[in-house]
Amino acid sequence: MRVPARAAARAAKLRAEIEGHNYRYHVLDEPLVTDAEYDALMRELQELEARHPELVMPDSPTQRVGAAPSEAFKEVSHAVPMLSLNNAFDEQEVEAFDRRVREALGAERVEYAVEPKFDGLAVSLIYEGGALKRGATRGDGYTGEDVTANLRTVRAIPLGLTSRRAPRLLEVRGEVLMLKSDFEHLNRAQREKGEKEFANPRNAAAGSLRQLDSAVTAGRRLTFFAYGIGAQDGAPRFRRHSELLDYLEEKRFPVARERAVASGLREVLEYYRRMAPKRPELPYEIDGVVYKVNDLAGQEELGFVSRAPRYAVAHKFPAEEATSVVAGIEVQVGRTGALTPVARLDPVSVGGVTVTNATLHNEDEIRRKDIRIGDTVVVRRAGDVIPEVVRVIASRRPGNARRFVMPARCPVCNAAVEKPEGEVVARCTAGLYCPAQRKQALLHFASRRAMDIEGLGEKLVDQLVDRKMVETPADLYRLDAGSLSALERMAEKSASNIVAAIEGSKRVMLARFIYALGIRNVGETTARDLARHFGDRLKAIMGADDQTLLEVPDVGPVVARSIAQFFHEPHNRKVIEQLLDAGIVFERAASQPGRSRVAGKTFVLTGTLPNLAREEAKRRIEAQGGRVTGSVSKKTGYVVLGADPGAKHDKARKLGIPVLDEAGLLELLND
Ligand code: IVH
Repeated sequence: MRVPARAAARAAKLRAEIEGHNYRYHVLDEPLVTDAEYDALMRELQELEARHPELVMPDSPTQRVGAAPSEAFKEVSHAVPMLSLNNAFDEQEVEAFDRRVREALGAERVEYAVEPKFDGLAVSLIYEGGALKRGATRGDGYTGEDVTANLRTVRAIPLGLTSRRAPRLLEVRGEVLMLKSDFEHLNRAQREKGEKEFANPRNAAAGSLRQLDSAVTAGRRLTFFAYGIGAQDGAPRFRRHSELLDYLEEKRFPVARERAVASGLREVLEYYRRMAPKRPELPYEIDGVVYKVNDLAGQEELGFVSRAPRYAVAHKFPAEEATSVVAGIEVQVGRTGALTPVARLDPVSVGGVTVTNATLHNEDEIRRKDIRIGDTVVVRRAGDVIPEVVRVIASRRPGNARRFVMPARCPVCNAAVEKPEGEVVARCTAGLYCPAQRKQALLHFASRRAMDIEGLGEKLVDQLVDRKMVETPADLYRLDAGSLSALERMAEKSASNIVAAIEGSKRVMLARFIYALGIRNVGETTARDLARHFGDRLKAIMGADDQTLLEVPDVGPVVARSIAQFFHEPHNRKVIEQLLDAGIVFERAASQPGRSRVAGKTFVLTGTLPNLAREEAKRRIEAQGGRVTGSVSKKTGYVVLGADPGAKHDKARKLGIPVLDEAGLLELLND
């Protein structure tokens, strides 16, 4: 049957349009259409192809949904071997690498292409005449497995090269990954289906790519980043690695935004130090950075030793996971009475820090992961997050491993523990009568973002509560240097410093004071919204009922209930009264909100500002009645841009939101 020219033209147009949307969504992270609009285009193409099967092309986006399951993967050999990288674990090893490179090239200083080291799995993509012909895993570097059908389902991978004169042969190399968010999502789904969870995004990506049924792969969200070229014929001649990456980017391959060029050892190490703190914020896992001699002739001159190139090195980050043994499980009581089981671990270094405790979150979590005392476990510490136990290594469970049971009474005050139906958290019911809750409440009250009383730390609070010198925050204001200096490890000087800090905290913004009270469900933002809504009048907030509180922006029924309940409680009212009697007065924001150009505007800060710390910028914006939020939307007033801005900048541009640099922000604040 002949295909009408109109149908063929429409199919070609749809294919181009859909692939364009794939590119915008999966590579640029800037979708133009809604999911529904995308689905409609896809459906139209599917229908067209069903009516005219001759129209089905291997590079049609409809073919990304997976092909018929196969029996086994075919073996393929790599024309250019896929080698590995040598590792450097510290700066000395990088220095030695740079020295070897400089000596071999006879150069004083070498330029390097620097990029993240993706923690996924390496693949090779072969394009012949511009069409994706074969995709393979790395395997042992010489022979891999043909996973073409699976790689076709990865929407970040172009099915064809956009250009009129495509090279006869181009082998693109890169890494298949699963984003952290997609990994969480997948594991949640696995859990709900009662199926096995994946240990980390890399395993999930590997497991998804090595599926004999590519429809399964299609159901998993994988992505791809290109970092090099293998075999080629008819591709442009590049002089530098960075040019080759530019070319791949132009051909619509995802290439790390974080890549850069660094000249000499100093800049290379600066790149490492810049990337290390970004690691937890990146949407995908990286386990280090890679430095490659940028000059390709130089690369060739350096060549290989055994299985790794001499021209490149992977500078690894400290591992975020390590194994240790659960020596015991203790229960900590938090500010709201929540009982948190904590694993006491044999000391182990994770991510460069010695870890001896890891949170187990709650009883359900312990049961789900089946963690027992005596177990060998994988401990994870990523960025500044509290270390946690990821999983048990079941094969190493000793015969005498013991299960954990949540105590029925509070381990600190012996009051009853309750766990309401449907909730996961068990709580001590004693409230502020429980010394543990009292201590936490005091620490919260004094914390930097609340009353900001410097020097009032854990050790001091422990003593003050244990000796019954302080029961409520109001008691803090009755302390004098004489009684403080009688405490352990308290010199006269530090005692008077603390008294001065307590005195200094008496002038405070109402929002901070409300936050300091530690009302359940009231964080900094809600505290600020309350103060603003009630015109900085504490009495009005204390007297508000649920209905009135619901008028405050972003306050829902649960939060309104917590607030009303808190101020209804006679004990709380009494403490507040005592605090006011002690001389606490509320300061107004520096300039009257409403008059400043910042007032009422929402700011998003992205990247590092040259002089202002993020906290400081936030404080100054808020002092003038502005708000700082994390994500860019139509409601954003300004995006403030520092060095290395992320995707937020692109989004601001797309939405036409004014963008400021630090100078611009300061001008606005000083106006
Ligand atoms: S270049 C001959 N660049 O690391 C040079 N590899 O240990 C080969 N990897 O198998 C690779 N990110 O899977 C290169 N930006 C990057 C990389 C990277 C991750 C992986 C790759 C390779 C392994 C080598």
